[in-house]
Amino acid sequence: QSVADYDLWLSYQKISDTELVNKYRAQTNDIAFMGNSETIIVAKEELRLGLGNMLGNSSVIMNADPNSADLIVGTKDQLHTTIQNRLAKDLEQVGEEGFVIKALVQKGKNALVLTANTDIAILYGVFRLLELMGQHQSLDKINLVDAPKIDLRMLNHWDNLDRTVERGYAGASIWNWQKLPEYIDQRYIDYARANASIGINAVSLTNVNANALILTPMYLEKVQALANVFRPYGIKVYLTARFSAPIEIGGLDTADPLDQNVQQWWDKKAAEIYGLIPDFGGFLVKANSEGQPGPQNYDRNHVDGANMMAKALQPHDGNVIWRAFVYSEHDADDRAKQAYSEFVPYDGQFMDNVLVQTKNGAIDFQPREPFHPMFGAMPKTSQIIEFQITQEYLGFSTHLVFLPKLFEEVLDSDTYRKGKGSTVAKAIDGSLYDKKMTGMVGVANIGSDLNWTGHPFAQANWYGFGRLAWNPYLDAETIADEWLRLTYSNENAFVNPMKELLIDSREAVVNYMNPLGLHHIFDTGHHYGPGPWVSELGRPEWNPTYYHNADVNGIGFDRTTKGSNAVAQYAEPLRLLWNDPKTTPEKYLLWFHHLPWDYVLEDGNTLWDGIALKYQEGVNQVAEMISTWKKMKPYVSEEQHREVKMLLNIQLKEAKWWRDACLLYFQTFSNKDLPKGVEKPT
Ligand code: GCU
Repeated sequence: QSVADYDLWLSYQKISDTELVNKYRAQTNDIAFMGNSETIIVAKEELRLGLGNMLGNSSVIMNADPNSADLIVGTKDQLHTTIQNRLAKDLEQVGEEGFVIKALVQKGKNALVLTANTDIAILYGVFRLLELMGQHQSLDKINLVDAPKIDLRMLNHWDNLDRTVERGYAGASIWNWQKLPEYIDQRYIDYARANASIGINAVSLTNVNANALILTPMYLEKVQALANVFRPYGIKVYLTARFSAPIEIGGLDTADPLDQNVQQWWDKKAAEIYGLIPDFGGFLVKANSEGQPGPQNYDRNHVDGANMMAKALQPHDGNVIWRAFVYSEHDADDRAKQAYSEFVPYDGQFMDNVLVQTKNGAIDFQPREPFHPMFGAMPKTSQIIEFQITQEYLGFSTHLVFLPKLFEEVLDSDTYRKGKGSTVAKAIDGSLYDKKMTGMVGVANIGSDLNWTGHPFAQANWYGFGRLAWNPYLDAETIADEWLRLTYSNENAFVNPMKELLIDSREAVVNYMNPLGLHHIFDTGHHYGPGPWVSELGRPEWNPTYYHNADVNGIGFDRTTKGSNAVAQYAEPLRLLWNDPKTTPEKYLLWFHHLPWDYVLEDGNTLWDGIALKYQEGVNQVAEMISTWKKMKPYVSEEQHREVKMLLNIQLKEAKWWRDACLLYFQTFSNKDLPKGVEKPT
């Protein structure tokens, strides 16, 4: 892996266009940077670093006279009243975390002003200013008023205390528990910088399959050290709380949420944590899911469990994030229906500081899923969305897949909960129903690999997640454009073809893994390669055959009124539209329908031919990615070029593996030849 890749999108590459450099220098030479909090100190350092690297300007001063400075940076109260008055309206709009960057004329002289209501928002503004310069954008007439649309913008690490990472493909956990709290790795600081640069303001450090030990004094001291590092960057720390912790580390004989001793144990634990970390975020809980303990072990429900913890955290302004990723073997007619039926009836009963965290789809982070029917269906609950940035079902950190395209598709989906235009984004950002708190969560793809994410292009998924959590209406293309410019090069001959490559990469993986609504046909356990034939696992809903149901009559999961009736969990008109294959978007066809092999698709092909052609298209798309990358040699280092080339070659080999494995297997049922254009397996 290339050392250069450590810097992520914060490499602040030297700008070679001298005209632009001179312009930027004139705009940033004399800086009046006000304030001296911890956050302002790191903001100043970042600005110095960025300007130094991009403009080769080591002589920037930060304490210029605000009346004559080129760049004035300060919170509202620190600004001169005349400027304060001119920006008052903008500042009213940006809240606690938004900022204003404006070009104006002061005493006959051009000046840039970066202002906000809080120090953390100043830091966000500094990062944005540097990003704009990194993208070579003109600041001459800048008038940027920007604020996040979502409150909680969070990463979930699935990191274990032994430094393995569940579903992690980028090396060991970056949290070095053994050396903490005394040893502060520079990585912690760079991690915080990277997160702050895209507006991420919360992290949960530990695996949702939780180890109660993290809540013991020895570990809490280590967590405190990390929280101290993250604080100047506006990042709050959360921990996963194992529901049975009162038994495992508390010496109680029950974890029943209605038991007084249990309640007191959590109250005390919360007080202990807040004694160490006054701005602790709260607990993230996976309960009664995949074998994890929870309130149902004591015949209680999710509300009992979540509210018990919420009460303990409430005096300290903490939150409970309660995950809705639940399914059990007892209700296995269709796993896709279970979360909705376990949660929606409780709408309105969760305390205000409970956030219900729901995965983007109803199964599990597949290359493509229809949006989860819970979105928009719990108007009185603060429901937050969980995406997976780590590529569990998307080729790990070996395959290049640009996830903002997937995130965008989900966020843009119309739930119709309050009529047309009730998109998932609106259900999430609180514009559909008023919410106490809004949030977007991404399961991190970060590890101790030199380049953080294993595949250098997987950095774009971290970046893109942060950008969408800030503004869920950004389009994937804009994000791709920004990231490519900041990370690699501003040359259009690089950016344009690479943007296309990134955008197409998502559909490519759908095509070569799970076309036309197929899902969960991965091999057991690792979820990497194909395994549509797997049928003998202990629980029905773990078996790929449960999801594709291929037989001589056809293929697909019948979720219509004649099947599991999962369609009933969607609002009209979706319920009606998706109940009929003819009015179901073909990308979801086999998600909702079991259809005969000679069912006729929109383009006139039979279903069998259509499936085969999609698999082939996926392979062709990867081949196309390789040929684009070949042309990119002049714009990246030799090392970077070679690395990505090797990875793309593996991706091509494995796209063919997926195609051949799935088609050979499904062919045993369809008994049909491969159509023209589909390569024969060798
Ligand atoms: C998936 C994943 C698990 C993870 C679970 C979860 O099922 O394979 O490793 O624990 O999701 O989100 O809780």
